[in-house]
Amino acid sequence: MISTVRELLKEKGNHVWSIEPDASAYEALTIMAEKNIGALLVMHKGEIVGVFSERDYARNSIQEDRNNLIVPVGDFMTRNVLYVSPESTMEECMALMTGKHVRHLPVIDNNRLLGLISIGDVVKRIISAQKIVISELEKYVPKK
Ligand SMILES: NC(=O)c1ccc[n+]([C@@H]2O[C@H](COP(=O)([O-])OP(=O)(O)OC[C@H]3O[C@@H](n4cnc5c(N)ncnc54)[C@H](O)[C@@H]3O)[C@@H](O)[C@H]2O)c1
Repeated sequence: MISTVRELLKEKGNHVWSIEPDASAYEALTIMAEKNIGALLVMHKGEIVGVFSERDYARNSIQEDRNNLIVPVGDFMTRNVLYVSPESTMEECMALMTGKHVRHLPVIDNNRLLGLISIGDVVKRIISAQKIVISELEKYVPKK
């Protein structure tokens, strides 16, 4: 049963798809479509400077008079990047995601980027943990 982010990353892998802040929204959306993902970490000189998600694009693009697709990612991204540690539990991640309305969290340990998790990753592990608990409990239900 997966209970921590470290275990989740062992299963999911450590690769993080990222982009530079001066890349265009079009370049970002192209990568997101090709990789079938909903967000990119925005990195400059090895540092995390933001997150660019489908929601950042959808929300901010309606305020722009410019051609949205040529706007730099840096203009649309969220700068305040929330993150979790490898020891964070699935429940802690879910509380952060639902409480702060974010769907993607980078995983950071001692200033090192270890991976990125999404709300779907967390929900999947919470549901499978609950299924295990239910099947264990069913063993104690008297058969009629
Ligand atoms: N079957 C699975 O294991 C699984 C896991 C997660 C999501 N999903 C499904 O995918 C759909 C959308 O998922 P979502 O809303 O969680 O977000 P999403 O589409 O952004 O994420 C899909 C997967 O890509 C990974 N991912 C996303 N952005 C990444 C990045 N920049 N770098 C590295 N990995 C990245 C996520 O961790 C997740 O595993 C949902 O329908 C969900 O059910 C399935």
